[in-house]
Amino acid sequence: MNSVVVIGGGPGGYVAAIRAAQLGANVTLIEKKHIGGTCLNVGCIPTKALLHPAEIALSAREGASCGVHTTIDAINWDEVLAFKNSIIGKLTGGVASLLKASGVKVIKGEAKFIKPKAVEVTLEDDSHQIVEADRFIIATGSVPVMPPIEGLRESRFVVDSTGLLSMELLPKTMVIIGGGVIGIEFAAALAAFGCKVTIVEALDTLAPTLDREISAMLAKQLEKQGVELMLSHKVVSISDGESEAAVKVDNNGEVKTVSAEKVLCAVGRRSYIDNLNAEAVGIRCERSKILVNEYLETNIPGVYAIGDCVGQIMLAHTASAQGEVAAENAMGEKKCYKPNCVPSCIYSLPETAAVGITEQQAKEQKIDYRVGKFPLSANGRALIANGGEGMIKVIIGNELDELLGVHILGAHATELIAEAALAISMEATVLEITETIHSHPTVAEAIREAVLDADSKAIHIPNKKKKG
Ligand code: NAI
Repeated sequence: MNSVVVIGGGPGGYVAAIRAAQLGANVTLIEKKHIGGTCLNVGCIPTKALLHPAEIALSAREGASCGVHTTIDAINWDEVLAFKNSIIGKLTGGVASLLKASGVKVIKGEAKFIKPKAVEVTLEDDSHQIVEADRFIIATGSVPVMPPIEGLRESRFVVDSTGLLSMELLPKTMVIIGGGVIGIEFAAALAAFGCKVTIVEALDTLAPTLDREISAMLAKQLEKQGVELMLSHKVVSISDGESEAAVKVDNNGEVKTVSAEKVLCAVGRRSYIDNLNAEAVGIRCERSKILVNEYLETNIPGVYAIGDCVGQIMLAHTASAQGEVAAENAMGEKKCYKPNCVPSCIYSLPETAAVGITEQQAKEQKIDYRVGKFPLSANGRALIANGGEGMIKVIIGNELDELLGVHILGAHATELIAEAALAISMEATVLEITETIHSHPTVAEAIREAVLDADSKAIHIPNKKKKG
């Protein structure tokens, strides 16, 4: 019961390793590339480190609206990348120190199961080491999907999100295939840097999991920032010219070509268990995902799997939450992983965040609900921050008068969503939220106002509906 091996050092794996060590396990973490995984090295953190200078550029352009007149002399891409790399360095160094301080042994190498409770690790010098343990926690993550589009793999202009984060030059033009989370975040950053961005999205909406109204507002924001949206367009083929790629797109039989210096492929990620040999030793998998029960345990007792390699919700914070549960279960507890709500964030400019059910889901699930909305143009802090762009929309369940969903587009949305997540996970009622005093002036006040609006009681907007 005392030895735990964690495979993968991302936000799932390193959190699991630290928690298992806290509980007294003798922990070994095996990582083939970088501690911190996709999130810290080529995902969440570096994209936000690009979005920060992008936001500064955007603010500089808009500064004249509040009396700050400025011009941007240059976007120095090398320095932008250096800033991004310095943040990555600090955070990965921090995680390495935490692992050391927790007594976790880190092995740099690629693990492959040779028995259900033993792996062979190919070390950096190509030598091999066998590692055995009582418990295993698999956290091998995911990789970008490369769809079978003609010419995509061969093109020298196509990058995935990892490639984009280390491009040598900032392109003047960019086609982004996929209007999901990654596509939107990079489009926002690159457009703010002055790149002409076109998003090609197969569906008729951006980020289809968002509430439809929020998604439409987000689309308008991106267009305002100069991003061209080609919704309901599929990429048919890509062919390389001398200095650009020609991307052929199809909209119900109408074919057009868009040219760009770079093409970002952002059509999703897939679970990564490619060289793990998990199935061969009897660990049950389905379509390259590891199957687990509610305790995050595979069909082999004592072997757990968490995060993107399980492929339920591919988010860093769900991987970390699962990491804690799996580590605790590996150390003898019996905890279920059943979050009743998972917040999701898109770091667009302004940001988008959501938790709980959307209005579409409320309708599909035949829930008796009502909606409250509050435009951020009526919120002082938001008005100062970005001219009051955005809205907060809440879904209230009528049966128990409780908050079921919160959807935000606007300044600080990704921070505000924490209040909503706590409220939903504690099954807060309308009264509990509206009786909570929110500090002024904050954007958070608008959450309370949106809840009040569900009963026509908002103070800072005219109330059209009358209750009763
Ligand atoms: P995604 O699943 O969010 O979006 C992919 C989009 O590509 C979909 O809208 C889909 O309709 C579209 N698409 C697929 N094939 C296409 C084609 N041939 N032509 C045009 N459009 C096509 O995937 P994405 O953006 O790559 O993100 C991958 C994962 O990483 C997601 O699970 C996401 O949640 C996670 N992630 C989360 C972040 C966050 O929490 N802020 C940031 C970045 C990624």
